[in-house]
Amino acid sequence: MKTMIIGTGSYAPDRVVTNEDLAGIVETSDEWISTRTGIRERRISLGQGTTAMAAEAARRAMEDAGVGPEEIDLIVVGTATADHCFPSAACEVQGILGADRAVGYDISAACSGFIFALNTADSFIRSGVYRTGLVIGADNLSKLVDWSDRSTCVLFGDGAGAVVVRGCEEQETGSGVIRTEIGSDGRKASVLTCRSRTMGNFLTGTKPEIGYISMEGQEVFKFAVKKVPECIEQLLSNTGTKMEEIKYLVLHQANFRICESIARRLKVSMDKIPMNIECYGNTSGATIPVLLDELNRDGRLSSGDKVILAGFGAGLTWGASLIQWQ
Ligand code: ACO
Repeated sequence: MKTMIIGTGSYAPDRVVTNEDLAGIVETSDEWISTRTGIRERRISLGQGTTAMAAEAARRAMEDAGVGPEEIDLIVVGTATADHCFPSAACEVQGILGADRAVGYDISAACSGFIFALNTADSFIRSGVYRTGLVIGADNLSKLVDWSDRSTCVLFGDGAGAVVVRGCEEQETGSGVIRTEIGSDGRKASVLTCRSRTMGNFLTGTKPEIGYISMEGQEVFKFAVKKVPECIEQLLSNTGTKMEEIKYLVLHQANFRICESIARRLKVSMDKIPMNIECYGNTSGATIPVLLDELNRDGRLSSGDKVILAGFGAGLTWGASLIQWQ
């Protein structure tokens, strides 16, 4: 059994926040943000939560696939920003879509969340446990950002992307998810963090506090430009694939310069690396499926194209997936 991606969808809130807008609330400039990151604007939610964005992206992916809610067996949401500690975003999405037969749960791997979620769905589908699934990457990082911290608040945006996956008999064309590599390194956990609630209870005598994103930017940069190329090379080697066979590297949109550096290390042209960070900023678990949806809807993917999806994020976590488009 092979996992095919049979539909894609994405959603971002309407409200655009430009670099100039941010220069009005912290000491920064369009020039600083765009030259260091490639970001010019991002979408920020006016109260719409992760679940609502995820459900809309999923609805669009199901429409693209021609699949109804009753056909969905599994919903996996890669998110670090579920609206509630519980229930999960996946269960809420299930309720909104009316996917009553499905089982849903979230995966926590920050910006690598979509790749981890895809790997989970692929494993279940390959082994015949489930047939049709929704894999969603959705995040609402605007609620975790300290809007007075210029070193982080300029980087992030809100959004969601989704794919419908379905198990199909192995075909001669070899289409579908070929292989996924994922990894994590907890020794570097402190490099990129966001405390949810501090440990407060009646015994400690303290009230819980909410935390904000805190990041050692240069450490994350160094990690990404080393680990992502290594992971992609491992994926190519483990599947006997040559880089020349790859049409696109769909990379996590965290920073244009990170993507350029990855391209240099892998000796590939930026033509192979589509980007949309300019318009959305870093939407964490959503960047990869949003970009994949853009490629699909713009007709930039043809049957037989090989594509690598690759992400990295807090944990530290990373992952890459080789897909052949159907
Ligand atoms: N506007 C103007 N100045 C700023 C801003 C800002 N928004 N932010 C920081 N600065 C200043 C700093 O205060 C510092 O000033 P100083 O020299 O007077 O002390 C100066 O700019 C340089 O700061 P650095 O942090 O060294 O800047 P750097 O060149 O490293 O760029 C950046 C920062 C863009 C965050 C970079 O490190 C980066 O992209 N790292 C990767 C981050 C990332 O990708 N994070 C997300 C990945 S994981 C995930 O997706 C959750």
